[in-house]
Amino acid sequence: MNELEEIKNKIDIVEYVGKYVQLKQSGRNFKGLCPFHSEKTPSFMVSPEKQIWHCFGCNEGGDVISFVEKIEGLTFPEAVKELAAQAGVKLSQNFSERKEPTDKYYAINELACAYYEKALFKPEAKQALDYLKKRGLDDKTIKDFRLGFSPAQGEVVVKELTALGYTKEDLVKAGVANAKNDRVIDQFRNRLMFPITNVQGKTIGFSARVLDDTLPKYINTPETLIYHKSNILFGLDKAKEQARKQDHLVLVEGNMDMIFSYQAGVKNVAASSGTALTESQLDLIKRFTKNIKIAFDVDLAGQNATKRAIELAQDKGFNIKVIEVPEGKDPADLVKNDPDKWIKTCKKAKYVVDYIFDSTFSKYDITNILDKKRATKELLGTISRLPDPVEKEHYLQILAQRIGISLQALTDALRKAKSTTNSKTKKTEALTEKVEEKKTKPISLEEHVMSLLFVAPNYADFFFNKLKPEDFVDPRLVSFAKDLNQLSIDRGEIDLEKWLRKQSKENQEYVNVLTLRIEDEFEEINDESLGEEIFSSVLRLRHNAYEDAKKKLIGQLQEAEKSGDKETLKKTMNELQSLIEQERNI
Ligand code: UTP
Ligand code: MN
Repeated sequence: MNELEEIKNKIDIVEYVGKYVQLKQSGRNFKGLCPFHSEKTPSFMVSPEKQIWHCFGCNEGGDVISFVEKIEGLTFPEAVKELAAQAGVKLSQNFSERKEPTDKYYAINELACAYYEKALFKPEAKQALDYLKKRGLDDKTIKDFRLGFSPAQGEVVVKELTALGYTKEDLVKAGVANAKNDRVIDQFRNRLMFPITNVQGKTIGFSARVLDDTLPKYINTPETLIYHKSNILFGLDKAKEQARKQDHLVLVEGNMDMIFSYQAGVKNVAASSGTALTESQLDLIKRFTKNIKIAFDVDLAGQNATKRAIELAQDKGFNIKVIEVPEGKDPADLVKNDPDKWIKTCKKAKYVVDYIFDSTFSKYDITNILDKKRATKELLGTISRLPDPVEKEHYLQILAQRIGISLQALTDALRKAKSTTNSKTKKTEALTEKVEEKKTKPISLEEHVMSLLFVAPNYADFFFNKLKPEDFVDPRLVSFAKDLNQLSIDRGEIDLEKWLRKQSKENQEYVNVLTLRIEDEFEEINDESLGEEIFSSVLRLRHNAYEDAKKKLIGQLQEAEKSGDKETLKKTMNELQSLIEQERNI
């Protein structure tokens, strides 16, 4: 058995995928909402028998390795290594030698992290350690987050790591050093070091804070092959388990806020690190939960960036609540003064629409007609984005009450607002639909028939009594049919698994997906109706085959007529006649 098979045998795909996707048993397979595209009805299937997954919505699929590749954003070798480690499978030299080019950069960041971590406890770092303690971080937190200190000299990391064999160019590419006037020096000097980890917990960069009020306050790793600012949420690797369990994630702005919240016991927390939320960050979160509580700085409704973040999250189908942090403070301050207060504040999170209503009404003075109009316009915008009609109605009523306008007048205004603001969303929707359409090829009748044979090989006699392998058009299906027909003649029965093992990898995949689809379709159906389905589908295909043959003959007939070839005319006529006869007899 090779290593890949060993890994796949040791890891139960249902259990593994189940860590990311809520799966429900459905017949012999499991089903859930696809983590790779947004959908409301489940079309993502996992087969424990075939050890594969497939989504009939976005047409993605494969084995457990490809699942890890996709969901964790890993390359094939990275995914294999990850799974091998989990399954306790030792990879041969042969495999690990196929080093992926990014390995080096992970290694460099890890080494730098370990270096800074140790340096924090050296005498020269006393000021840094004192700073952390003074702010209220305890020893365990400092250790858990592997906080560190970058010495001031300026070339320590460069020296340390080049001594281990890395080139200066490697260090620059890994983001721990930078090249300045022909000299390569440490990227971070005399700063508190916060390692940035990816969702798997690997160190991919740093956020480095000054110890005083110098600017810039933070210096971060520049974009590298492994660090992409817009794809990272600080702390998500530590938060993900709790986010999944509690089914929501608290989002804060600052890395310090994240760390303090974690220390206070609100562990399902991650930081956007001061940037507006991006789509890829939201996609990351969606692997674990669809509920977020945003605890950005106060008065966020006024800030366009945050409002856009809320809209983006709404479009992605998130349920959003807003945690209101008292003015002038951030979560870190709250925790320092009173950890329980932070826990309570999180619990009191407001539903996003209520929050927007409240903050809009506190921003405007609605006794003033101009303000009233502005507030109405903004809130109608919010209402028009709500996907649920009941909710829409509910908030329209509230708005009508609060500004003293009739519901009818508001509904009219909403309709008007909708026709202008919504055209853009519609366009993008149409665009994605088109893309999906292109991806998902509908199944053809002959594929359907072949899949029926795969799930019901005991009907082979009936199949090949009615159908000739040549009745299929796709050469791949023709050859399947020939094989299976022969097997059924030779052995009296078809050992499908044995046959499948001898097929090429592509064919195996194709057969598995076809089978999965039919298993899904016939999940609730008993053997009898399966029989009926086989009967009618086979006849339909047979009928189509006759139709095609007839069309061809009629074409020949017309040719012969035109050229006056009496002999061919007669011969073709006879063929057509016998074909019609045969068709009547099926
Ligand atoms: P904050 O200024 O709120 O920082 O910026 P903070 O995390 O609360 O840190 P303390 O409490 O002052 O120690 C929020 C986030 O914005 C990014 C950082 O990721 C920070 O955590 N930021 C901020 C930068 O990248 N560069 C900066 O100069 C400032
Ligand atoms: Mn802060």
